[in-house]
Amino acid sequence: MDNYAKITYEGKTYKLPVVKGSEGEKAIDISTLRQKTGLITLDPGFANTGSCISSITFMSGEKGILRYRGIPVEELARHSTFTETAYLLINGVLPTRNELNRFSVLLNDNSLVHEDMQIFYQNFPRASHPMGILSSMVNALRSFYPELQTVEEEINKTVTRLLSKTRTLAAMSYKISRGHKVIYPRTDLPYCANFLNMMFDSPVKPYRINRDMVKALNVFWILHADHEQNCSTSAVRVVGSGRVNLYAAISAGIAALWGPLHGGANQAVIEMLSDIAKNGGDIDTVIKKAKDKNDPFRLMGFGHRVYKTYDPRAKIMKKMCDKVLKKLKINDPLLDIAKKLEEIALNDNYFIDHNLYPNVDFYSGILLRAMGIPTKMFTVMFAIGRLPGWIAQWKESADDPKWRLSRPRQIYTGPTKTKYIPIDER
Ligand code: ACO
Repeated sequence: MDNYAKITYEGKTYKLPVVKGSEGEKAIDISTLRQKTGLITLDPGFANTGSCISSITFMSGEKGILRYRGIPVEELARHSTFTETAYLLINGVLPTRNELNRFSVLLNDNSLVHEDMQIFYQNFPRASHPMGILSSMVNALRSFYPELQTVEEEINKTVTRLLSKTRTLAAMSYKISRGHKVIYPRTDLPYCANFLNMMFDSPVKPYRINRDMVKALNVFWILHADHEQNCSTSAVRVVGSGRVNLYAAISAGIAALWGPLHGGANQAVIEMLSDIAKNGGDIDTVIKKAKDKNDPFRLMGFGHRVYKTYDPRAKIMKKMCDKVLKKLKINDPLLDIAKKLEEIALNDNYFIDHNLYPNVDFYSGILLRAMGIPTKMFTVMFAIGRLPGWIAQWKESADDPKWRLSRPRQIYTGPTKTKYIPIDER
């Protein structure tokens, strides 16, 4: 088999190497294309562009596969914890018991945030979206935790600080937004239980940690932990390529995740399901709107750039919703609407022909509602879960000897050279 592709242009033929991944994916390496031919490629939305070579996450859009460092996400959801999965993604291998204990201790040791950061929260307008606040606060962390002496120390410390403090910042933001007393992290609690305690404990009503909730949160965050070169991860890599500090790169990732076509879809799904409930369960109108080419409305939580089959994370999330709601005896009418909507869509020719299936965001909001997380905070929950992936991808790019500043080209279609006309002569 050829290990190169040929391109013929203006009578000349050029050979470009073909790169093959460990799961058989192939790519034409065009890094010398412009130099050899004077041409660039044009690929809006980068749907056909491999931006890097990576050994972190494998996904198959056709087969519905997702693996972190080779391990299927289904196995991690069943057996692992979010902390262990974070270690796996960032360090490349599963930790030993000692390594995991040390990592957990480090996370707890770095869980407090500077008291002065509380003042920022008080000055955001009441209606501020929690994602805008989180992105700003994570960027602000650099001012409170300046660069360390050695690269090694800087990376290790910043990674644990980010993982631990972002979770504290999110819970603190929730408490302050409600005018409640901030609950500090506890060093005796593991990562997920600690978050739930910071969110829901209060001086008047102590929070009782519920094992089912803790398991559900672990699964929720494991399912969000990485997803190769998606919009926000690409933002982290692109911003990071300018060699900014990790806090700034992650802050950019949080901003990118906010959008309703990306992580913001989890909030948009619940808003859409709530609207259907308010309109007496009228699903047909929503389906019609989603199919109407003249209406910008899309069925939220449906469709994916890569998955052209059922998103494996959505399958787990749906089962988790059923399990948690049943166990906690919660009757959420939105779950019934979601299931009915899914059934109608999956039997509709438009959705069949366009390969549109539920994605991770379709059922995740229902699980978060059962945990008591407010809708406006859903995408913040996604962001905390995605931290290990962003960090691992940033680290991989920073360590890559071939890594270059991200700087795509364009095809210019504006005016050609035009004379400046002074203001009085226009
Ligand atoms: N509802 C209705 N039609 C859809 C939907 C949808 N949710 N998604 C895609 N389509 C249609 C488009 O209208 C288009 O139709 P056409 O070819 O007849 O014009 C076709 O499917 C392809 O759509 P694109 O926008 O080109 O597909 P793309 O790969 O760029 O989009 C995306 C992927 C953005 C996720 C899209 O499916 C969407 O908007 N979904 C809803 C938002 C959502 O759930 N986002 C979360 C994704 S998961 C994540 O990021 C965490």
